[in-house]
Parts: sequence; structure tokens; C-alpha cells
Amino acid sequence: MKNILITGGAGFIGSHVVRLFVNKYPNYQIYNLDALTYAGNLENNIDISKASNYTFVKGNIKDIDFINNLFKKHRFDGVIHLAAESHVDRSITNPNDFIETNILGTANLLNAFRDLWQDNYEGKLFYHVSTDEVYGSLGKTGLFVETTPYDPQSPYAASKASSDHIVRSYGNTYKLPFVISNCSNNYGANQFPEKLIPLFIHNIRNRKSLPVYGDGNYTRDWLFVEDHAMAIDLIFHKGKIEETYNIGGFNEWTNLNLIHLLCKQMDEKLKLQEGTSAKLITFVKDRAGHDKRYAIDATKLNRELGWKPSVTFEEGLSKTIDWYLENEEWLNNVTSGAYKDYYKKMYD
Ligand code: NAD
Ligand code: TYD
Repeated sequence: MKNILITGGAGFIGSHVVRLFVNKYPNYQIYNLDALTYAGNLENNIDISKASNYTFVKGNIKDIDFINNLFKKHRFDGVIHLAAESHVDRSITNPNDFIETNILGTANLLNAFRDLWQDNYEGKLFYHVSTDEVYGSLGKTGLFVETTPYDPQSPYAASKASSDHIVRSYGNTYKLPFVISNCSNNYGANQFPEKLIPLFIHNIRNRKSLPVYGDGNYTRDWLFVEDHAMAIDLIFHKGKIEETYNIGGFNEWTNLNLIHLLCKQMDEKLKLQEGTSAKLITFVKDRAGHDKRYAIDATKLNRELGWKPSVTFEEGLSKTIDWYLENEEWLNNVTSGAYKDYYKKMYD
């Protein structure tokens, strides 16, 4: 029996990772540590909440004493660290939240892990989940590879870059066994409707405008969240210590092209006349310091561990829309209360 700590498991990607590990590894005890910020939601894990190998722990990675006691109590053999402040727009309004959680919170976990195992790291692993945004912004050509120099442009990206550096420094200085993965934009079920795809699904459903930043000619690489969870599983079990793996969908879209595809699928699913949803597109003020293009080269992960995405973007997007349309109550719950204030401040 191994004790595995997954942080941020009540959030979007974390909830898919927790579900995969709880179902696939009955011989692991999975501890899901989450502070339940606005982005954390226990409904995301409701289906596995009664599993005998699953425990939810409410707590904050910023709280040093709490983290140290938790590690002493459960002696985690492995950590998969996803807890973070994750939305670029919020990092522009409140950078300190990102610095505290993403940098200091990560350091607290590393210190607790090191204090527990420093005499013998055999069979132990700290897996840090990161983003392609640490590499900065690309021009029209080129791809991010694992050796691309870091050049983060937003407070979010800088906080993640900083935490990546700290993890690597613990590997070098204390021989703490780690792996890091840097992934492109995820989409899928349970994503909080502040990010592009769920926000636009929600707005189309409610006949609200679709706020496109700037001219919409920004490019992202999109990956279905369940494919990310499978990559994390593979890297956690088969990845080489001290290595970095880029994870991406080989799937670049400009925001405008993506939005038109989304509108087309929404028209079909809601039985609206073709072109109805696209009429909601509204060009709004651009995001400050908006990164032009992200594109990941995930060849290393494919070559060394045999991973590749399992769905096309059209399939993944269709599944995602279906999930949101079938889970209206989930969407209504997360968009009541504080969400309304956020939306007003951000878009009105
Ligand atoms: P999310 O915002 O949906 O979820 C984050 C979770 O962390 C929430 O459940 C929240 O309650 C929890 N959390 C936040 N602060 C905490 C704290 N101080 N203590 C304990 N828990 C806290 O984020 P996500 O999109 O699921 O991203 C998860 C991870 O993956 C992040 O580290 C992010 O940087 C990384 N990532 C995300 C994407 C993406 O497209 N969403 C892409 C690449 C990498
Ligand atoms: P987002 O989902 O916030 O992810 P990230 O900023 O991490 O890439 O945004 C994806 C792209 O969509 C990004 O170029 C910003 C743009 N965008 C809009 O045009 N309008 C919006 O309301 C949002 C949230 C994002």
C-alpha cells in the first residue's frame, strides 16, 4: 500500500487525476488536499467520494504547520502537486495570491517532503504539474520543447516558472526525486467557467455575449483533460527522475477559429439555426500583456513513454459541450454568488 498525496484534486484537472488514480490503483491510498477556493468543488469528486482508498483533506498549502503535520501523519510516498491559482486574468488583478500559493505553497510541500524522506528517498517521488506558459510567447513558427528557455510573461506564468525552478533546485541541492510536466491549455468537464471554453458554452446557453479579447488572433494548443490525466499517470509511474516532459495536443487553434467551431457545435446541439451562436461574438479590450501563441512539442513524451492524445479536438469539444449541457446544476451552482461579482468586474 502506498500513500499518495494529490493537491488541488477538487479543481478541474486535479479531479480527473484523482478519479483516475482512485479507480485504477486500489492498492494506493489517495489523499486529496484542497483548500476549496472558488475553483475547488467537492461535486467534482462526488462519484468516488465513498471509495475505501480515497480521503479528502481540506487544507491550505500556504499553512506550513498544517502541511508539516499532514506529511508526518500520512508519510506520503508520492506527491502529485496541482494546487494552484490558475487563471491568467485573476493574476493580473491579484498577483500576490499567485505568488503566495504557487511559489510559497510549493516550497512548503517540498520542505515537508524533504524533511520526511531526506535520509532515504528510495521509491519516493514529487511530481510537479506545470504549464507551457512558463516558456513565454511564440511568433508564427516554432514549438516549445523541454529545453526552451523560460520567459514567463504574466504573473501566473512567472509564479509557475518560479515554482518549477524551486522544484529543480531541490533536486540538485537535496537530491529530492522529482519530475515536472508542462502542459498546454486543457479543456473538458468540470472546468470553472472563467476559462475560454466553459465560459463561452455558459454564455451561449444563456444568450449572453462572447467576449473575444483583442482581434481574437491568438493561438493556443488544446488538450482534452482526460488525456492530460493519462499522461500524468504515465509520467508518475514510468517517467525518469529529474526529467521534464512537455504535454500537448498537437492541436493549435486561433481563438476565433476555435470559437466558430464551438458556436457551430452549440447551434447543432441546441437545435438553433446555423450562425445563431456566432452572432454573440463581441470584440472587447485585450488582456494586458496577452501572449500571442503557445505551441507544445510533445514528441519526447510520445517517443519515450508512448503517450499520445486519444481524441480529436472535434470529439473532445463535443463531449465537453455535452457534459456542460447535461450538468446544468453544476454550472448553476458554480456561477451563483461570488462568480457574479467576478463577471461584473471582468466584463461589464
Ligand atoms: P483549477 O483552478 O481548476 O484548480 C485548482 C485547485 O487548487 C482548486 O481546487 C483550488 O481549490 C485548489 N487550490 C488553490 N489554492 C490552493 C491552496 N492555497 N491550497 C490548497 N489548494 C488550493 O486549476 P486547474 O486548471 O485544474 O490546474 C491545475 C494545475 O495544472 C495547476 O497547477 C495549473 O498551473 C496546471 N495547468 C493547468 C492548465 C489548464 O489549462 N487549466 C494547463 C497546464 C497546467
Ligand atoms: P484562457 O482559457 O484564460 O487560457 P490561457 O490564458 O491560460 O491561455 O484563455 C484562452 C485564450 O482565450 C486566451 O488567448 C485568452 C482568450 N480569452 C478571450 O478571448 N476571452 C475570454 O473571455 C477569455 C476568458 C479568454
